[in-house]
Amino acid sequence: MEASPKRVEHQLTDKGYVPVYTTTVVEQPWDRYTAEEHGVWATLFERQRQLLEGRACREFLDNQARFGISATAIPRFDDLNRVLRAATGWELVGVEGLLPELTFFEHLSHRRFPVTWWIRKPEQLDYIAEPDLFHDLFGHVPLLLNPIFAEYMQRYGLGGVKAHGIGPEALINLTRLYWYTVEFGLIATPEGLRIYGSGIVSSKGESIYCLEHPAPNRLGFGLERVMRTRYRIDTYQKTYFVIDSFEQLFDATQPDFTPIYATLAASDAVPAGAVLDDDRVFHRGTGEGWADGGDV
Ligand code: PHE
Ligand code: CO
Repeated sequence: MEASPKRVEHQLTDKGYVPVYTTTVVEQPWDRYTAEEHGVWATLFERQRQLLEGRACREFLDNQARFGISATAIPRFDDLNRVLRAATGWELVGVEGLLPELTFFEHLSHRRFPVTWWIRKPEQLDYIAEPDLFHDLFGHVPLLLNPIFAEYMQRYGLGGVKAHGIGPEALINLTRLYWYTVEFGLIATPEGLRIYGSGIVSSKGESIYCLEHPAPNRLGFGLERVMRTRYRIDTYQKTYFVIDSFEQLFDATQPDFTPIYATLAASDAVPAGAVLDDDRVFHRGTGEGWADGGDV
């Protein structure tokens, strides 16, 4: 019989109004994946690997290849963990789905990355509102092999525990940083802009849209700029922020955020689609097709 995730309640989170699941870590029930579920993995894996050549950054593509995963079957967390532990000391832990924020931060602060064990249904290949195994594993795991990114993620977790203690406004600022880097980040390379954000690489439509569509802004990354900026949870992003390197991202996030949270609390948030006077503009979006309202 097919196993199913255990939802406990619906809750308004930074990812919108979504189910929040039991907080316990679970074994990946690998033997219970059905042929249909392995098939969903195969379809998505092949489609995205093909699409991402020349669109995702080299670090993502090369590191993903290092795991030896393929379209053949849903990977086993245990196999990935052998590679991860040896490289950066990270490990994957199975979860039922989105975790409460503090629990999530605590995992990251211990170099544990929570991966949803279940995969989307065949009718959800192009869109799913909440993270599933394909997003978490295909999208997030490769860059955990990059030593700088691995360190960034752990420090983000530690910063999250701290922000949680400061208050909800600080958490909003920090979550925007995660959103515009870990989930939806672009990186400038000598060959042009490339994707590193997990929310993009796991989406067929957005993998193309973020780089090739005239509608969205593509702006240089700035720490406070990003932490002030609202985002979209139900449409493609109106703005993507571009880093020059993972070192730049790492260095920019090393200062203590406590005084930054205090400054930001006194200033207004920036709408998701805005371009400001001092932005470094890679591309000014035409805004075509943008939905009114709905920034979070
Ligand atoms: N420097 C941040 C703080 O003081 C923590 C952090 C580090 C956040 C790296 C994100 C990435 O809160
Ligand atoms: Co994600």
